[in-house]
Amino acid sequence: MKVSVKVPATTANLGPGFDCLGLALPIYNTITIEETVLPGTGIEINLMSEEEAIDEMVFDNIPRDENNIVYKAVEMLYNSIGQEPSELRINIQSQIPITRGLGSSSAVIVGGLLAANKLLGSPADETALLSIATEVEGHPDNVAPAILGGFVLASQDIDGTIVYRKLPWPQEWDITVCIPDFELSTNIARSVLPENVPMQDAIFNAKHLAMLVEAVHTKDEKLMKFALHDRLHQPYREKLVPGMKEIMEAFKHEDGVLGCVLSGAGPTMLVISHKYDLDKIKSTVKDIWEAQSIKVDVRTLKVEEQGAVILE
Ligand code: HSE
Repeated sequence: MKVSVKVPATTANLGPGFDCLGLALPIYNTITIEETVLPGTGIEINLMSEEEAIDEMVFDNIPRDENNIVYKAVEMLYNSIGQEPSELRINIQSQIPITRGLGSSSAVIVGGLLAANKLLGSPADETALLSIATEVEGHPDNVAPAILGGFVLASQDIDGTIVYRKLPWPQEWDITVCIPDFELSTNIARSVLPENVPMQDAIFNAKHLAMLVEAVHTKDEKLMKFALHDRLHQPYREKLVPGMKEIMEAFKHEDGVLGCVLSGAGPTMLVISHKYDLDKIKSTVKDIWEAQSIKVDVRTLKVEEQGAVILE
């Protein structure tokens, strides 16, 4: 028996929502898991990418054994019901650019978990799956919208339980993802963050995150423009993303641009706009990055309201 699951890309943080906010986007990975009889180790992991610009080094460095994150997640699910995974063939068809801040690892973790859960007769519910996915990924802000679709607020209780809510997102707002042709691993992007932050910065983010949720709820574009600012991660990551500061500056005073933030841990930049000239977004970002010899793939998308789906 084999099961395939299609999972959307995600963009996490949205400025002040560090490690707790995420949006699903219409770019997909498809993960297929097959229980089979295999010679050797008993695991076969195949990766296929439809991305033209994929860096072969990154692709080649993805583990094809028990250290693969999909296998780890699947193993945790089996272990949670007192079983060991049998021989598994895992196929990953990837359209989501890798190490660009668009949730490619979350998508494969979620896809693997949902496929394995179906193979096992669905012993785990959504919360249990989210909890395993969060443990493997380290934070819930990508895995939650990857499972649920849409705009998701997710946090973790002291006992590890994931607390999450899917909230309505104004579909009339355009999301432009600007994907540069260089990678930035989440580990590196997290390694530059300080252990402690000034109280004023923590207060700044608390205020802006609360305003952001209200702005989305009431589709208040002026409030959204005020809210899309962060002091907990973006200032520290600027040095890892050449051009980031200039791109953010370029949109600061543009009417119709609600904000420009780092997508997840970067290096992709996200521009949220409404009734704004999308070609202008593209040319502005291209001009800044191409002046630094960085090629960029710019795509304007609508939020994907559907989360991971099991394909029949
Ligand atoms: N919230 C995470 C971060 C998302 O910014 O490090 C990266 O996957």
